Amino acid sequence: MARHTFARTTFAALSAVTLLALGACSSEPPSSDAGDGGSDGGSGSDLISVGFSQVGAESGWRSANTMSIKDTLTEENGFELSFSDAQQKQENQISAIRNYIAQGMDVIAFSPVVETGWDAVLEEAKGAGIPVVLTDRAVETTVDDAYVSFIGSDFIEEGARAGEWAAEQYDGEGYKVVELQGTTGSAPAIDRQEGFAGAIEGTDLEMIDSQTGDFTRDGGKKVMEGFLTAHDDIDLVFAHNDDMGLGAIEAIEAAGLKPGEDIKIITIDGVKDGMTALADGKINYIVECNPLLGPDLAEVIEKTVAGDAVDARIVTQDEAFDQEGAKAALPDRQY
Ligand code: AHR
Repeated sequence: MARHTFARTTFAALSAVTLLALGACSSEPPSSDAGDGGSDGGSGSDLISVGFSQVGAESGWRSANTMSIKDTLTEENGFELSFSDAQQKQENQISAIRNYIAQGMDVIAFSPVVETGWDAVLEEAKGAGIPVVLTDRAVETTVDDAYVSFIGSDFIEEGARAGEWAAEQYDGEGYKVVELQGTTGSAPAIDRQEGFAGAIEGTDLEMIDSQTGDFTRDGGKKVMEGFLTAHDDIDLVFAHNDDMGLGAIEAIEAAGLKPGEDIKIITIDGVKDGMTALADGKINYIVECNPLLGPDLAEVIEKTVAGDAVDARIVTQDEAFDQEGAKAALPDRQY
């Protein structure tokens, strides 16, 4: 089992390159940008060919993450990127990764939609000698040295920070809490739930319902509508991301209640729309999840192909914001 046991494999390689940067772009459904046949991995180009399989375009966070990756892994920075959008489907990711293996990419990177079910394809990449880098989300695998590095936030810590803030504010008041979970089986949904539950354990906050809204605004709205029909005593919503929290705001307002006052809301991410709702008083607290993983990914790839050691785990640093903090941070927010 290797969810937190990562390899320090290095792979001999091509030439070194310069990199850096962030910027803008977007991911549209049909799967692949440079086309799954777009990269000439192994054809003799000086560029490092990278196949990246993205989860989808389910949230503002995901769009910012895609933007960071595309704007960093540019030809100018020494990369030839083949990008594919899996539309939140594991089978699409597996097929994209198999394509990248067949093309002989120098490096494959992906953000796994769910934690399990990757052993076969990771074994295939390993057999082909292609290093794999995980971004954003972890996997559980029995394959040894399945990937060189995992870059992303500590999701258990994010859930715990959300729960600790809730407990600090509302312990002793007998608050009833509902939870909007992320995609079932995904690392952030599993870990944020665990972190939050641990933090409110032993307090007067009581979790009365918890369902998945699949990290989407629409999903959050629909699940919140169901919660409001089933319960007339909800005090607090813990949403695993901003988008579901924003959907919950719509449902709460449609029910004639005031989000942020009649029903408090805590979310995770800190994208512009979420931070704006926080500054407007409709959300009460946001734990950040930084999506700008492109520069770290580029550095790991560059070092890997150069045969240098890389950190097996790179933990992204996240902040947290209350309503005043959001007002101060918004003018400089990049995403
Ligand atoms: O894996 C990160 C999560 O995925 C973000 O919190 C969420 O917005 C996204 O969909």
